[in-house]
Amino acid sequence: AEKGLKDYYKSYFPVGVAVSPRALQNPAEVALILQQFNSLTPENDMKMGPIHPDSTRWNWGPADAIVDFAQAHHLKVRGHNLCWHEQTPRWIFKNPDGSQVSKAHLLKRLHDHIDAVVKRYKGKIYAWDVVNEAIADNPNEFLRNSDWYKICGEDFIAEAFRYAHAADPSAVLFYNDYNTERPEKMERVYKLLKKLKDAKVPIDAVGLQGHWSLVEPTEQELRTTIERFASLGLKVQVTELDVSVYPWEKDRRAKRPDESDAYTPDMQAKQSAQYAMFFKVFRDEAKAGRLTGVTFWNISDHYSWLDTYPVVGRKNHPLLFDENFKPKPAYYEVVKF
Ligand code: XIL
Repeated sequence: AEKGLKDYYKSYFPVGVAVSPRALQNPAEVALILQQFNSLTPENDMKMGPIHPDSTRWNWGPADAIVDFAQAHHLKVRGHNLCWHEQTPRWIFKNPDGSQVSKAHLLKRLHDHIDAVVKRYKGKIYAWDVVNEAIADNPNEFLRNSDWYKICGEDFIAEAFRYAHAADPSAVLFYNDYNTERPEKMERVYKLLKKLKDAKVPIDAVGLQGHWSLVEPTEQELRTTIERFASLGLKVQVTELDVSVYPWEKDRRAKRPDESDAYTPDMQAKQSAQYAMFFKVFRDEAKAGRLTGVTFWNISDHYSWLDTYPVVGRKNHPLLFDENFKPKPAYYEVVKF
């Protein structure tokens, strides 16, 4: 069989991809996954809302399908995620009468959720994103003012790690976040990680989501971030890599009528250069023992979550494979070393 990313990077780190059960039904996508990747992350199906839609109802089917596929093909699985402010069911924050639950009650529910999910996949999932995106977007604030935070204060973060560790002491436990290379955000993530380490919370690693662009991050920002987090004794992975051809925008909006979504030669050239630079840094950081994995967020430009986020109706082209599942020039940059 033709070599893939997983083969070129065999001595560096596993190369993963985010998937849905639907992709695993499509022969073209299955062929590409098996040729290129040796790790899977469920794109949505292990998040609390999808997998635990009601207090007494679990929707294991889609998550099981991904784990079964991985087992059948000897792929690793990263679990994503156990505690987040999005795709979280409303029931978890409410009493039966509709009032807000107490802190003690919410932590009990968080415990029971984490315990059930982590134990179900024990031995089959080697790493978990335990807490996702707990840092505020506003640079002047520390933690995000989510329902978790409003009800529990910052304790939910440490507790989530303790619950996950108790359920599977062998799993590698991650804090995961985006824009971690921006200096102001990097400092706040560092502050959180340091607090957790100082309190002997069982955290092993940090995930840089890696939703990057043609201009962000710079090589220096990327190296500095990985090395600063690693200085705490944590491993680092890039957990959700894609390189948007548009500038970063946080807020959702509709595509403007006059707005082009052409994938220009200039965008393609800049994107190839970004990917080449990122993977050079990844190889260096892996050899230094700091970086232990890279996962792409979606398989190919046939489908990306960025096609509808944050701009609805604008096609993006953020990955290494095109809409027909063929390697793009950026792919050849990544495997040429
Ligand atoms: C995204 C999925 O890709 C979409 O399908 C879904 O509609 C929203 O969530 N950060 C994360 C991921 O940690 O879970 C998000 O995934 C992308 C941003």
